Amino acid sequence: MIKASDFGHDFSWGVATAAAQIEGAADLYGKGPSIWDTYANRSGKIKKGHHPTIACDFYHKYKEDIALVRLLGFSVFRFSISWPRIMPYGEGMVNEEGIRFYHQVIDECLENGLVPYITLYHWDLPEALEAEGGWTAFGINSAFNAFVSICAKTYGDKVKNWIVLNEPFGFTSLGYMLGIHAPGNTGLTNFFSAVHHAAIAQADGGRILRAEVSQANIGTSYSCSEIIPYTQSESDLLAAQRVDCLMNRLFIEPALGMGYPGTDWEVMEKFSIQHSTWRHTERLTFDFDFIGIQNYFPLTIKYNAFIPVIQAWEVKAKNRKVPHTTMGWEINGKSFYNVIKQFAAYPKIKSLMITENGAAYHDKLTEGKVHDKERIAYFQEYLAALLKAKNEGLNITGYMAWTLMDNFEWAEGFNARFGLVHNDFKTQKRTIKDSGYWWQEFLNS
Ligand code: NOJ
Repeated sequence: MIKASDFGHDFSWGVATAAAQIEGAADLYGKGPSIWDTYANRSGKIKKGHHPTIACDFYHKYKEDIALVRLLGFSVFRFSISWPRIMPYGEGMVNEEGIRFYHQVIDECLENGLVPYITLYHWDLPEALEAEGGWTAFGINSAFNAFVSICAKTYGDKVKNWIVLNEPFGFTSLGYMLGIHAPGNTGLTNFFSAVHHAAIAQADGGRILRAEVSQANIGTSYSCSEIIPYTQSESDLLAAQRVDCLMNRLFIEPALGMGYPGTDWEVMEKFSIQHSTWRHTERLTFDFDFIGIQNYFPLTIKYNAFIPVIQAWEVKAKNRKVPHTTMGWEINGKSFYNVIKQFAAYPKIKSLMITENGAAYHDKLTEGKVHDKERIAYFQEYLAALLKAKNEGLNITGYMAWTLMDNFEWAEGFNARFGLVHNDFKTQKRTIKDSGYWWQEFLNS
């Protein structure tokens, strides 16, 4: 059985959260609407019509929740700053109540001996900016930079660890190409312009933090999945390469100064060439202190001529009859190890941190207990894979579990429960699950 101490005493252990998923108080205390507040008002967009207005009510319960992080034995608390809470119109006016709220959250972390990690963009774009084109619009970069600068200047004395963007491939693809996340836009033109502006934002954000925050530890986080070809046929191999290019390489390579991924896939090649002048390549580059890896599952990919553009299709875990969570996501610790190795192979990465990893299950609260043994098994399998990678000499500095408590899981609403702590969304009562107690014991080991 592995122990926390096997990872070394300077390894950081944390839990991760995001503002729109936990805070609630969505229309209170001067906060402006985010794209998720408006998207959730559109019928049929979120399962069961769920809405993030109250979510976990973290806004009012942050003291209790931060105490839970400490009680479980973690030393890091990752949360995000809601841009529309700080700047209700996305630009210009600053909401002092919002500023005060994050001071309180940070102070509470520090008083509890927790190291705060702040994510600057975890998907809740101010609606006012979406009205001007959101991530597809040229103006988004100056607005984002102003927001980053305010956060850095305001909190930089107290907070040294920053994550600029959370999963840029996630919000650009789901929100601007497939239309199944806020703001619900579709098409390749939207997608590629959102990608380019987000890639600029990650590097600009890094530069602003470097200039404003002394001794900052600056990172940005990517969704990473091992892409496994269904067969070794040439068509499946090429389909898998295309998916890898989109899902794993699209944002890290420009950040590392490599420009957008070079590939023989025509669509990507056109985009890369269009943005490959030295001016772009330089602006897209930033020397991050750490790269955040967020992994849940691998994808098995097969060639499919009927799928436009990418001509690739996922063969679901369920159809392959392999173990999966209630999200349908394959459980595969080996693939976690493989994707860590894939990222670690980029020579310019200074260090890696696992900034999210976890599993959703149909948890049942019975007599004040949640016996989520599958989640415990999931963590054990993934942590063993992580330890193997670390023991091979990779510079991995920490791990954050997703997530502290059941929360608003985007288009899934409150149905997908990822927490170590159960939340009753009617009463807002928190109950530590068996997996939470498992972590408590593990972190003591
Ligand atoms: C990725 C996202 O960053 C987070 O917000 C989400 O809840 C988890 N993964 C689980 O889907």
